[in-house]
Amino acid sequence: MLVSATEMLKKAKAGHYAVGQFNINNLEWTKSILLTAKELRSPVILGVSEGAGKYMGGYDVVVGMVNGLLKDLDIDVPVALHLDHGSFEGCYKCIEAGFSSIMFDGSHYPIAENVEKTTELVKAAHSKGLSIEAEVGSIGGEEDGVIGMGECADPKECKSIADLGVDFLAAGIGNIHGKYPANWKGLSFETLAAVQELTGELPLVLHGGTGIPADQIKKAIDLGVSKINVNTECQLAFADATRKYIEAGKDLEGKGFDPRKLLAPGAEAIKATVKEKMELFGSVGKAE
Ligand code: 13P
Repeated sequence: MLVSATEMLKKAKAGHYAVGQFNINNLEWTKSILLTAKELRSPVILGVSEGAGKYMGGYDVVVGMVNGLLKDLDIDVPVALHLDHGSFEGCYKCIEAGFSSIMFDGSHYPIAENVEKTTELVKAAHSKGLSIEAEVGSIGGEEDGVIGMGECADPKECKSIADLGVDFLAAGIGNIHGKYPANWKGLSFETLAAVQELTGELPLVLHGGTGIPADQIKKAIDLGVSKINVNTECQLAFADATRKYIEAGKDLEGKGFDPRKLLAPGAEAIKATVKEKMELFGSVGKAE
């Protein structure tokens, strides 16, 4: 059964590790992530952007697929199904469809409007037992049409959103969706420390997990990050493994064109990426 992400992230914050949010795109992604979490006894959050939800056919399809896999694969670790960078309307749709967690990304609104909309959605989510993430500052780059300038969050604004009763908070600290450019200055630990100081026990979220060096990930966790989002890295791993399979001509050997064979190396590559991240984030063995 799906669970909200509140408990798993409270535990992570208290235990000084982070739970990975891995974005899903289809059956192979979802199955690979869930099987890896089960094997490593790790809690996990499945992220769904609005674009990926649409691609998969809609939120009902996503909920049906995830619930079916939890049952048929006997996934016995905590799993949350979370809307990633949701719009105001998208959040309501996912609450209705049966997600167990939502993110409202009101970072592009003036802070008063972000506060107003977040307040309403906190009530709506909590009344149905879902957890809710909010955002202040913005994550640079682009993800599924959501574009951010990457400005660092104002710690006081973070405090005003934290006080609304959100369960975890994404604060922009120089992180970027997608690959980091060669001239990237790194995470702003100054901003993170200032946000953590004002928001206390609230679990903080680090978006743009792809390509952040291990030492910066560990420092971010030390400074209060309890959830780390990874999307692009699984996509790159899948594409790379699939390209190698096709370039080696394996799809032309016997029944190598069968999607169960053609997509298998990519699915295995996702498993390896997820395993590496769970080990780095420290969530292995934390399911119980
Ligand atoms: P990356 O694609 O950079 O890993 O970011 C994922 C993310 O933050 C999802 O919200």
